[in-house]
Amino acid sequence: MSYQVGVFIGSLSTVSINRRLAKALQRLSAGTSLTLEEIPIGNLPLYNHDYDADYPAEGLALKEAIAAVDALIFVTPEFNRSVPGALKNAIDWGSRPWGQNSFAYKPSAVIGASPGKIGTAVAQQHLRSILSFVNSPELAQPEAYIQFTEGLITADGEITDQGTAAFVADWLQKFEMFVGKVTNAHR
Ligand code: FNR
Repeated sequence: MSYQVGVFIGSLSTVSINRRLAKALQRLSAGTSLTLEEIPIGNLPLYNHDYDADYPAEGLALKEAIAAVDALIFVTPEFNRSVPGALKNAIDWGSRPWGQNSFAYKPSAVIGASPGKIGTAVAQQHLRSILSFVNSPELAQPEAYIQFTEGLITADGEITDQGTAAFVADWLQKFEMFVGKVTNAHR
């Protein structure tokens, strides 16, 4: 089996450390059954339900991108102890119009990096609660809170610390197994 995985990056910054982490995941996915590709969120207008009657092209493209993949990975920073607004906005777009929630039964995992010691733990807990509501089965363990130190991940996604590289590779392997189990359960 091979699985297409859509990657949401919660940061819109051009120098995002979470974008580096997403690149690292992509590198580590070589040789697994997972193919990772970003689902961009930076072009989405701010959602409101007036759009439900006539979704704009950006909203439709997002829903189509989610429909086209088997699973989702959320790589996110923590903003003010929560999920960045851009990411929440994208999830709101994907969850609507009412009755057409794109996340239902789509297996997902959450990972994130920040310079702080708790490495996005609080944002991830908020994100897990959102993903539960939109009915996306989430990888519960291992949790992955990456404290980003200078040079930990290069611009092209190489993790320079062996222990961190092994941890992230193991996390991805467990997600691969999880996706297989959830996908088979829902066939
Ligand atoms: C932050 N940062 C931050 N870090 C953290 O660990 N907990 C937090 O609550 C916050 N809050 C926060 C709010 C806002 C508005 C900004 C801009 C930043 C710091 C943050 O972790 C750091 O800027 C990361 O580099 C952001 O990730 P990206 O954008 O580089 O992927």
